[in-house]
Amino acid sequence: MKILVIGSGGREHCLVWKLAQSPLAEKIYCAPGNGGTGLAAQNVDIAAADIEGLLDFALQEGVDLTVVGPEAPLVAGIVDKFENKGLKIFGPGQELSRLEGSKVFTKNVLKKYGIPTADFEVFNSPGEAKRYVAAKRAPIVVKADGLAAGKGVIVCPSIEEANQAVDLIMAEKKFGKAGDRIVVEDCLAGEEASILIFTDGDAIVPLVSAQDHKPAYDGDTGPNTGGMGAYAPAPLVDNELLNTVVRDIFQPLIAGLKKESKAYKGMLYAGLMIKDNQPYVLEFNVRFGDPEIQAILPKLKSDLVEVMLKTIDSKLNEVILEWDERFCLCVVLASGGYPGSYEKGKEITGLEELKNMEDIFVFHAGTKLEQRLVTSGGRVLNIAGVGKTIKEARNRVYKAIEKVHFEKMHYRKDIGSKALTKLPL
Ligand code: AMP
Ligand code: GLY
Repeated sequence: MKILVIGSGGREHCLVWKLAQSPLAEKIYCAPGNGGTGLAAQNVDIAAADIEGLLDFALQEGVDLTVVGPEAPLVAGIVDKFENKGLKIFGPGQELSRLEGSKVFTKNVLKKYGIPTADFEVFNSPGEAKRYVAAKRAPIVVKADGLAAGKGVIVCPSIEEANQAVDLIMAEKKFGKAGDRIVVEDCLAGEEASILIFTDGDAIVPLVSAQDHKPAYDGDTGPNTGGMGAYAPAPLVDNELLNTVVRDIFQPLIAGLKKESKAYKGMLYAGLMIKDNQPYVLEFNVRFGDPEIQAILPKLKSDLVEVMLKTIDSKLNEVILEWDERFCLCVVLASGGYPGSYEKGKEITGLEELKNMEDIFVFHAGTKLEQRLVTSGGRVLNIAGVGKTIKEARNRVYKAIEKVHFEKMHYRKDIGSKALTKLPL
């Protein structure tokens, strides 16, 4: 089969790596890809946003399966366009991609099916929103309705900051049209976890749980990023909690959507807040999490191409995922300054030394292969490692990182610390 992976991050390199292991995969393309995917697949110079360009390419090359990494093309309707031309593509159509593309849609769906989430109201004007905020207690959360590159959620420690957040989103239009409507919701306390499932609209097959680390610096301090590291499974999520999440969140959602709208097909990712062992939905993503998947896929023994085809062909009930029982931990190496401004074009050295390290996986994100390998983005590399315990995986990863260098490289030194407090060592 010819397979096309769309995107250019660590998630996409990880997907390329895993898909390439399938006996079904003959040729893999990645559009536009990065310095790592260029070694494992054939990079194609078409942007992830260029849906017509991608469609032309897939038709021309006879691509048998397309896998979409980022949310924007899904929300823009890439799946419907490919399916209309008879092409197989993994992911939900435009209508149900609103689970990520519109917070208002999602909150209303959650409410309708009685799925646990923070209490909320939706507003179309800043005046109404501020009147509501004035009657509430801080902390409180203000969310732009639409896609805002992961920055549209503002957790406000005071009412004054909530008013500023309302103005930023609705009056100053910081996120453009994404801020035409907002959700204001109660702030939930607890610990976060990510649970991802494959679903074909009937069967639900959960992946192992994962925990992301969004703040830029150690001890969960500093500005929020796309994610600075992850591990899987998350000790916070035991089997009982996983069953609760499937029973109380995914089942009513997937069944409700199928009844009223369409079968949701693809990957669905729930960002959850866990409080007193009870899960509440913070958000959904309609695609694989980055860097969560870089900690999940090294554990997956099953053939990912087969799982994706069964999802598309509504045969997911035939799939039982097989896992490496060990832990996997992934640390993101970022450019100094990220998530703010940073320099690019720094030479990356030391990766050859990681090639022969046992149970270490390198997934490129913002890298570019010119004559040399150089940095080209905020999140540059993901170093993942597998171990019998989180501690073993973590030691392995941090030891590997010592070999890697680029100017102003920055990474968190405490990925996995929270998990270690919960586990016998
Ligand atoms: P979201 O994109 O909705 O997941 O929000 C991004 C981050 O904001 C989440 O990972 C949480 O850390 C935080 N967040 C969102 N909603 C809430 C909430 N209701 N209570 C507390 N934290 C929240
Ligand atoms: N790591 C969070 C996300 O993929 O949205």
